[in-house]
Amino acid sequence: MIKLPEDGELIRIEGGVWKVPNKPIVAYIEGDGIGPEVIRPTIEIVNEAVSLCYGSSREIKWVKLYAGDEAEKLFGTRLPEETLKTLEVVRVLLKGPLYTPPGGGWRSINVFLRQHFDLYANIRPVKYFDGLPSPLKNPQGIDMVIFRENTDDLYVGIEWPWDSQEAKKVREFLKKEFGIELPEDTGIGIKPMSRYKTIRIARLAIRYAISTGRKFVTVVHKGNIMKYTEGAFREWVYEVALKEFGDYFITEKELYEKYGGRIPEGKLVINDRIMDNMLQQIVLNPQQFQVIICPNVNGDYLSDAAAALVGGVSVAPSANIGDTAALFEPVHGTAPDIAGKGIANPTAALLSACLMLEYMGWHEAANLIREAIQEVIRQGKVTADLARLMGKDKYLKTEEYKREILEIMHSLKH
Ligand code: NAI
Repeated sequence: MIKLPEDGELIRIEGGVWKVPNKPIVAYIEGDGIGPEVIRPTIEIVNEAVSLCYGSSREIKWVKLYAGDEAEKLFGTRLPEETLKTLEVVRVLLKGPLYTPPGGGWRSINVFLRQHFDLYANIRPVKYFDGLPSPLKNPQGIDMVIFRENTDDLYVGIEWPWDSQEAKKVREFLKKEFGIELPEDTGIGIKPMSRYKTIRIARLAIRYAISTGRKFVTVVHKGNIMKYTEGAFREWVYEVALKEFGDYFITEKELYEKYGGRIPEGKLVINDRIMDNMLQQIVLNPQQFQVIICPNVNGDYLSDAAAALVGGVSVAPSANIGDTAALFEPVHGTAPDIAGKGIANPTAALLSACLMLEYMGWHEAANLIREAIQEVIRQGKVTADLARLMGKDKYLKTEEYKREILEIMHSLKH
């Protein structure tokens, strides 16, 4: 295992509850392609924000871990044993993108890490910064966080081709046991959705909603058609909200029938939307959503559609969270077409780090960084990817963009 900083302490995550010391140890992997170009400035900005907000009383003790191209060169393997062993102890990781060859080659390290640490919630914040390019006429005020279940549903991969022995057996079983007759050319996929897996993501999302002062939690599902999977998902999320967190929640019905449409002090509203309606709603009236909980497949569609409303991939952050570990990373990949040119946009990585700071309870530092990002974008001081979308000729290189953010953070604090 890699030696940890002696003056740092480990973050403890137990049952999804974080205990964060003042000098927490956090691991980082720079990643491939533009990874180092976005992760290095992110760490510098985060350190500065923490120092500006808390002086010397708090400081992140970073530990560099190796994976991807860099690890291959140094150790002859893309995911060294040392990296995994250290992560098993440190448990909180900020990560750049890692290259995965399409088709053959090695298995995705990203997928491996998610499975190994049972990171069951994929979290995608979708926030509009004034000035960002958007296909919407009125994107102002969009600020939602999507919690997508990561381990259940059709993506578990229980499926067989139509002409396999397995598919044939399932068809025969359905016919014999239930009198359900499927044509012989029917492929089979199974959609498992469990109470346990739904309840744990519901808890995680609800805790987040409460701790960040949100007012609406929305369950998205297709329960009108798939009653015992998607419909059950809806029921189970309501159950967690109203039974476990009953002191906090009112239903949408109560909001209008009992409270005249005004949310009482200290309360949140739980409601739900059917997936097809939801895809309309996030285009027509996205500002109504704050925290969204959805199953795996719907979440996949929804999170990409939502990201497109607020600037796309180079500003889209994410986290993968479990009960005992967490991984924060930008949504984008290694961007081989621009790697090494010093023009990558570090905003997605930076916003992923903000999400990490929120999980640590260091909200002031997260807010300071977000305010600075808002200011540079408002002033049109952006990297090439956004400049192009905004129809601007002039753009900042990554290094210049970082310096602007640092300067603005200083001016906001003084
Ligand atoms: P990509 O996200 O790397 O690039 C798509 C387009 O967006 C490119 O034109 C790129 O230049 C641009 N772009 C992406 N991030 C940017 C940024 N920060 N600043 C400016 N422009 C940016 O997607 P692609 O090309 O499909 O994937 C490349 C590699 O990345 C693949 O090997 C893939 O497996 C890997 N990947 C890794 C991920 C991870 O580690 N979590 C996630 C997605 C892809």
